[in-house]
Amino acid sequence: STGRHRDHMGNEIDEQPVVARRVLEALAPGIVDGSLWRGLGLPSLDTIDRVTVVGCGTSLHAGRALAGVFARLGGLPTRTLVASEAAHEVWEPRTLVIAMSQSGETADVLRALDALPPRHGTVLALTNNPSSTLARRSDAVIDCLAGPEVGVAATKTFVAQVLTGVCVALSGLSVFDRTDSARLGADLRALAATPDGLAAALDAWRGPCAQLATEYARASGFLFLGRGAGLVYAAEGALKLKELSYRWAEAYPAGELKHGPLALVDAGTPVFVVDNGDPRLDVDIAEVTARGGRVIRFGERVLTVGGVPLHLPRTGPSWGPLETVVPLQLFARELALRLHRDVDKPRNLAKSVTVS
Ligand code: M6R
Repeated sequence: STGRHRDHMGNEIDEQPVVARRVLEALAPGIVDGSLWRGLGLPSLDTIDRVTVVGCGTSLHAGRALAGVFARLGGLPTRTLVASEAAHEVWEPRTLVIAMSQSGETADVLRALDALPPRHGTVLALTNNPSSTLARRSDAVIDCLAGPEVGVAATKTFVAQVLTGVCVALSGLSVFDRTDSARLGADLRALAATPDGLAAALDAWRGPCAQLATEYARASGFLFLGRGAGLVYAAEGALKLKELSYRWAEAYPAGELKHGPLALVDAGTPVFVVDNGDPRLDVDIAEVTARGGRVIRFGERVLTVGGVPLHLPRTGPSWGPLETVVPLQLFARELALRLHRDVDKPRNLAKSVTVS
């Protein structure tokens, strides 16, 4: 890709508002009239009792955000499965299986489909490669329209997968009347605001994330906390950090702190909090700061860098505060650059993992 950075990853992070706009231009018109859902050949939601999302790594995280739409907005039972563990699961009929894979060639995902019993229900592939093996093996396919992603670390494909999945979910829930119109309206407005939200997050956080990376370049480990719909972004932030910087990073539901990970926190431990507006996060943060931990908070409320307070608008849609992934990606890249890592080709990893 072309852009202002020497590495692909930096450019792919910057492309996210454009990718988001492309996805919404293509898919949003098919939401309210249900034509997106029907056009994919997906069954009536009256014949579906549950949604199961399978994937690996970042695609799994995108799947978790998407599952939140079916669950929070549609009240459908959902689960997300690590693809490599799918063979150990009990599968029920009347399940919509959504297989998430950027490459469409991830062996663990293909094997998960092999584990499905006959008459399990419909498989929808959500991929950046509609001519992939996964696409051929599925009943329905949707292209997440991210364009080629070169960096091994998934960035723009994450945003594209989340938004594509959200459009499909909203389309099904709206045409089968599974949501009240006020909540659907709020989600639709949030969806339309996402490209600008991502652009604003890039502008707001580019500088501060560079400063934070300098400040924490010597930290040996990082905690990432969230609650509810914010948790998946904390998990994605921790994955990006591990993958790029080779530093330890753990993501936890903030309520779990006192059940173990709080023992890791001492003076100066960096703790990244994805703020989805849950008021209990204030208590969690107080637990961290009381032990000298350094809280860096992403969300509506404020981070102060060099005495300058910064705001990101709080996003409350059913897929959670997607825009918070931007500073987490930026921070992971900046830290990795300071540690002289190859941000496009992290050690030991491949873009497409075709062994299981
Ligand atoms: O091609 P896929 O989306 O199926 O790949 C799944 C994971 O291997 C991938 O998301 C991996 O976690 C990324 N390198 C993370 O940045």
